[in-house]
Amino acid sequence: MSPTTPPRAPFGRRRGAVSANRASGGYRVISLLDPEGPEPAPGQFYMLAAADSWLERGGRPHLPRAISVAEAGPAAAGVRLDFLVDAVGPGTSRLCELAEGEEVWLTGPLGNTFGEPTAVAGRTAAGAILVGGGVGVAPLALLRRRFAERAVPYRVLLGFRDEEHSGGLDLFCSAAGALCPEVRLASEDGHAGHRGYVTDLLEAMLAGDDAGSAVVYACGPPAMLEAVRALCAAAAVPSRLALESPMACGYGACFGCAVPKPDGGYLRLCVDGPVLAGEQLAGVPEAELARA
Ligand SMILES: Cc1cc2nc3c(=O)[nH]c(=O)nc-3n(C[C@H](O)[C@H](O)[C@H](O)COP(=O)(O)OP(=O)(O)OC[C@H]3O[C@@H](n4cnc5c(N)ncnc54)[C@H](O)[C@@H]3O)c2cc1C
Ligand code: FES
Repeated sequence: MSPTTPPRAPFGRRRGAVSANRASGGYRVISLLDPEGPEPAPGQFYMLAAADSWLERGGRPHLPRAISVAEAGPAAAGVRLDFLVDAVGPGTSRLCELAEGEEVWLTGPLGNTFGEPTAVAGRTAAGAILVGGGVGVAPLALLRRRFAERAVPYRVLLGFRDEEHSGGLDLFCSAAGALCPEVRLASEDGHAGHRGYVTDLLEAMLAGDDAGSAVVYACGPPAMLEAVRALCAAAAVPSRLALESPMACGYGACFGCAVPKPDGGYLRLCVDGPVLAGEQLAGVPEAELARA
């Protein structure tokens, strides 16, 4: 079964106000109020641009940047949206600078969602393994909460390069503020959890009893996603991969996000994804691997 398509917002951008901007490890959590909604599904994303220019005030606005929703919920007037942002260039740096009360142009929710394990695997007993790397942990935070609310069994594996390039763990905490017991960590520099790759943890898990009943959900850097795809293919475990290929329009018009299909032709990641089934890919595309 392919990843599912949730309801999408009526097309058109609108202004949302920043309600908070806080540090989360080396990243920022930007909270916005979307006056219209609808409430997004895990895996969906928004195209975001600061309404009041970028870089120096008075400068020309950049194209909006695609950012996954990390948390969402009803607000007094609209929907509260949280985004986990890593400042890697001019667009994300401007988003990370947003002050409370500033306005943002937002378009979304866009794209598809992950699908529940029983629907993906076609079995009633399937549980989920969520695998996140770097700022790619963002969509898995909302997915984890939705699974917890629906009593879907799940484990979470999160990996980071080093302390500077890590964050978002507070999005995986219980109401009491403690990291959820289902979360295991890996870091390449050994500052948290297993020293090494998060895919080492996944490999060990799939070598145990889990392979027969698991569905793997992953988002992270291209090299990590390719390792997850290959491990799942070898273990015959269904996987759902949220890719973050560069995007320009975000709604299917420019083909800037095209990803080759194994049997020819292309998928547009912004409308056919960003969540793809592992079997829809022969490998994570070259453009993705360029960022590793
Ligand atoms: C569906 C989707 C969801 C995303 N979710 C998040 C998120 O939740 N949080 C977050 O911080 N970022 C997210 N991103 C990535 C984010 O959109 C890009 O990092 C952003 O466009 C960078 O813009 P910039 O102007 O800051 O940097 P740029 O100047 O555009 O890029 C800086 C560097 O990163 C490389 N780069 C930029 N974007 C990508 C990309 N998508 N793939 C590969 N290489 C890239 C560039 O080649 C350059 O080296 C997401 C992308 C997609 C498509
Ligand atoms: S980003 Fe324009 S078609 Fe996907």
